[in-house]
Amino acid sequence: MKMNEVLYNAAAIADRVQELAKELDVAFDGSSIVAVVALKGAMPFAMDLIRSMKTPIAVELIRAKSYLGRESTGEVEFSLLPEGDLTGKTVLVIEDILDTGRTARAIYGALLIQNPQRVHVVTLLDKPARREVEFQPDWVGFSIENVFVVGYGLDYDEAYRQLPDIRVLEL
Ligand code: IMP
Ligand code: MG
Repeated sequence: MKMNEVLYNAAAIADRVQELAKELDVAFDGSSIVAVVALKGAMPFAMDLIRSMKTPIAVELIRAKSYLGRESTGEVEFSLLPEGDLTGKTVLVIEDILDTGRTARAIYGALLIQNPQRVHVVTLLDKPARREVEFQPDWVGFSIENVFVVGYGLDYDEAYRQLPDIRVLEL
């Protein structure tokens, strides 16, 4: 295994997060939202993002485990769901990365049944070429090629989440 080049350094990530924060503030126009942070990968992104936003934000957490590979269906299980009532709320799901799209679609579905007014999705990274189920996020930080990346929350077997940059991992 070899740690390859830095794809986005900490400064580039910070710049893009600031841009996204501004775009989101404009979109929500001062009305309050509930941010649902997808654990664990989206933690650094979510905290940097919401800290830069002026929109009033309540924070909830969701934890989805994807079992792609074990089952051909690629089932998604939840080990943590939002505790607050989402009825009538404007929800913003904050994701680390969209790959096949299964996790994001499952999260979207799990939140929709709580009758929110709307569910929006922002993801730091998107790998559109890898999509296996239809899913279109509302905001994307960086759209990337089909490479495996680590750092800034993203892991390989729980390692590398603490890296300040996003790097390509050659497996
Ligand atoms: P999906 O359900 O296939 O879209 O997978 C999404 C999940 O797969 C993410 O939340 C990550 O945990 C993991 N994942 C997909 N691609 C990468 C990557 O390049 N680096 C680290 N984790 C990844
Ligand atoms: Mg992971």
